[in-house]
Order: sequence, then structure tokens, then C-alpha cells
Amino acid sequence: MSDHDKLIELILELKKQRNAVILVHNYQRPEMFKIADYIGDSLGLSVKAAETKSDVILFCGVKFMAETAKVLSPDKTVLLPSLEAGCSLADMATVEKLQEVKKKYPDAAVVSYVNTTADIKAISDICCTSANAIEIVNSLPNKRIIFLPDKNLGRYVQQHTNKEIILWDGYCFVHDKLNAETLREFKQRYPDAKVIAHPECKDDLLKISDHVCGTGGMAKFAKSDGSKNFIVVTECGMTEKLRQDVPEKNFMSFCNICPYMKSTTLHLVARALVTNTNEITLPEHILVNARKAIDRMLQLPKNAAQE
Ligand code: 13P
Ligand code: SF4
Repeated sequence: MSDHDKLIELILELKKQRNAVILVHNYQRPEMFKIADYIGDSLGLSVKAAETKSDVILFCGVKFMAETAKVLSPDKTVLLPSLEAGCSLADMATVEKLQEVKKKYPDAAVVSYVNTTADIKAISDICCTSANAIEIVNSLPNKRIIFLPDKNLGRYVQQHTNKEIILWDGYCFVHDKLNAETLREFKQRYPDAKVIAHPECKDDLLKISDHVCGTGGMAKFAKSDGSKNFIVVTECGMTEKLRQDVPEKNFMSFCNICPYMKSTTLHLVARALVTNTNEITLPEHILVNARKAIDRMLQLPKNAAQE
């Protein structure tokens, strides 16, 4: 047996001993998929874990995702194996700045994308994912919406609603630096391929894409669409996941790597299960108030809160 296989066997054994559930985001290294109980998008994973009877949630993803898992399962131990698994987009929204903007627009509702810290969710009216952002914004009575932290997703929402969106100056560097002109050239090489893009990409790129959705919606689209070939515009890990989920179709990557996502390794997972490395803890008031913002989103009719 190779060292790699032995490590996987060890993790599966530790997982059993700890009664742990292992969540793996779509952008993780492909070897992480082998230890997963669930693979998916950022919110879906935390919702799934909350439904289990596990004592421990081990999150192969980034910190804001593990915090959401803790908010939805406050009595479980939540572990984030890598100390480097932050997210520069989530870090672009600070509590001080949001308090300032809220003061400037007292009539506006605050809609926080799930890619925010629990502190930010706790002072937001409601959360959203990249999949349900438009429906969430349209469901609110307020005419003005403070939307944070991703300006590209915010702009995309603005194009699909009559509300006034106050944009936050945040972006995901992984998606924001994907270039529309280069994609146009790439498309010329594969003229029959459909382009699936994540809404964290820039507006000019989204305009030349065939389908815009979060990671949870990409396989669904590829399965239901008549095309055989797809260009996948997001973090590079997604293409591998699509190849596994929809083996009868072809996927080409137009992507960048997220170093935060890739910082999680099998070794770190094994260590976390033994030593409880990087356990997520949150103050009670943050747990309670962030939960309210997430629950408001989840209470929306199912068809409005899909990937
Ligand atoms: P999803 O919510 O679509 O899984 O995306 C997470 C993410 O980090 C996007 O950059
Ligand atoms: Fe954050 Fe972007 Fe990485 Fe997602 S891809 S975790 S938004 S930096």
C-alpha cells in the first residue's frame, strides 16, 4: 500500500473514532475528495453537516465556511485543518466599515454574501449565496440594499433587480483577474463549447458567458444542457469535480488557483483529527445573531434558495 493510501486509511479510521463528518468544498485538491462524506458548495456543506449526528465537523474549505458550520451546529466541534485557509474576499468586509455604511444608509437592508466572517453576518439583516442573491434581494421590502463584500456579484444582482444596490469595494482576486479578452480568444479555439462562469467574475466576462452560477449549480447545468463541451470559468478545482460528476461530457478550464483552498492537505486533516488543530469557536452573541441572518435566508421558499 502506498503512503498516500495509508494516510487515507488512517484518516478514515480517525474519522470513525471521532464520529466526525468530513466536508470538502468543490475547490479542494482532488485527493481530498477521497475522504469526503460530502462534497459541495460553501453553504450546502454546512447545512448537510447540521443534519448529521456527528460530534465533529472537519471542514476542508476556508475559515468563513467553517464559521458557518459552527453557527449552524453550535454543539459540534468544528475543525479547520489549515491555519492558512482564510479568504481575502471575506477579509475585505470589516465590522467598523459596515457600521459606518449602515449609518450612512439607515433605510437600507444589509445583505451579506456567505463569503463573510460570522462577525459580519451577525450585524447583517440576511445572508445570500451566489445562487440565491437575486431572489434574496428581491424578497426584501427595502428599496435600498447594502450588498457585501463582492462588487462583481453585487453588480450582477443590480442588473437583475429594480432595487438600488450600494456596492462594497470587495472582490475575489481568483475570479476578478480572469480576463474577458483572453476568454474570447479561448472560446475561438472551442467554438461549440458553452461557458459556465462564477458570478464573482467581472461584468465583461459574465456578459460573454452562457451560464452564470455558483459551484453548486455547475454540474446541474452541464447535465441538463445539450452541449458536449464546456469551458469552466472559476477556481481550477471545479473542473476536476465536474469531470467526476459528469464523465460523459468534456470540461476545459479557464481558471485560477485559490491558495487558501489549496492549503488544506491530507496530512493536515490527519493532524487536526488527532490534535483538534484550529478549532472554530465563536462568542454566543455572534452565534445567535449570525444564525438569525442565515435562517432568514434558509426560510425563503426552496425554489428561491437553490444553487
Ligand atoms: P460557492 O459558494 O459557489 O461554492 O463559492 C465559494 C467560493 O469561495 C467562491 O469563490
Ligand atoms: Fe475566497 Fe476567492 Fe478563494 Fe473563494 S476563491 S475562498 S472567494 S479567495
